[in-house]
Amino acid sequence: LRNLGLRHDLYMGTAVSMAALNDAADPRYRELVASEFSTVTAENEMKWESLEPTRGTYNWGPADELIAFAKQNNQRVRGHVLVWHNQLPGWLTTGVNDGSITTEQLREILRNHITTVVKHFKGKIWQWDVVNEAVSDPWDTPSTLHYKGFWAQHLGPDYIADAFRWARAADPKALLFYNDYNIEAFGSGDPANDKTQFVYDMAKSLLAQRVPIDGVGSQGHLGTQYGNYDTLQVAAALKKFAGLGLATAFTEVDVRSQLTEAVQNGDSNEINPRLQASAANYSVLLQACLADRHCLSFTVWGFTDKHSWVPNWFGNEGMANIYDENYQPKRAYNLMKGDL
Ligand code: XIL
Repeated sequence: LRNLGLRHDLYMGTAVSMAALNDAADPRYRELVASEFSTVTAENEMKWESLEPTRGTYNWGPADELIAFAKQNNQRVRGHVLVWHNQLPGWLTTGVNDGSITTEQLREILRNHITTVVKHFKGKIWQWDVVNEAVSDPWDTPSTLHYKGFWAQHLGPDYIADAFRWARAADPKALLFYNDYNIEAFGSGDPANDKTQFVYDMAKSLLAQRVPIDGVGSQGHLGTQYGNYDTLQVAAALKKFAGLGLATAFTEVDVRSQLTEAVQNGDSNEINPRLQASAANYSVLLQACLADRHCLSFTVWGFTDKHSWVPNWFGNEGMANIYDENYQPKRAYNLMKGDL
């Protein structure tokens, strides 16, 4: 994938689990990260709870190790993530909840976090996910789209503009991205349309305020139970963002399936359609990206079913990745190869 992608100037990426990368009993994982991908993202190691588990004490080790690995293998690094409502350290959320951290202090803590982290990795990060998942979904309350979560609640939506400005000041060369899910498509009949439009309006307004945002990342966590995405609608979403002069990227692609009893019992009549639908969705996103020169990279959120967040997060779902748990390439891998 790596070499085929580069023929189109497209960087093919994966999220990397440092535990898996360092597992001596599982050398295949490390080999495939190196051979198949030209960009890597830390699955968890650059999140706030990992970097600063105790206030003021930074744990750079695992993230630095990934950066060294990437350098060795001539790969670019996506930085993930500076501002998000999940995987925050306990000292921060507790402090805010018990009032020992005031709003003013919280803003200062965020500024300090962004500055410290971006400076630490300065010159080594290609794209930073500066703000992640700031926008609600139609199923949230209220259902009208709004800025959701810890940061909007405590600092108001202006934290987004601040975050981009602080990140730019700390590393002027890194590309600064807004990253979210359910913004993969745009066009009639897609319930996620409104969110794509909302993020578009947000980006447009940030640009109008001269906020340094360079790109929009579409996560791409899809599921076969939701049907197939449409290439034209995915292309339309990318084109909207590109129309603002922004880069785009797919940042966390996986296409999960429900693991019914029949699937678990190995019933090929249930397994095959899932493999096909998963492959088709990977291919739709990849083709849209390939067709748009503003789409810089296509990153999968893990490449093997052996190491996937899906079963842990969604319960009875899985089969989301392009290799199976024995590192056999699946139909999705082969279809993507064909697209490239
Ligand atoms: C996930 C990781 O894959 C898991 O290991 C972790 O337990 C939870 O977070 N959107 C994101 C990613 O932006 O950071 C999330 O990663 C998946 C959803």
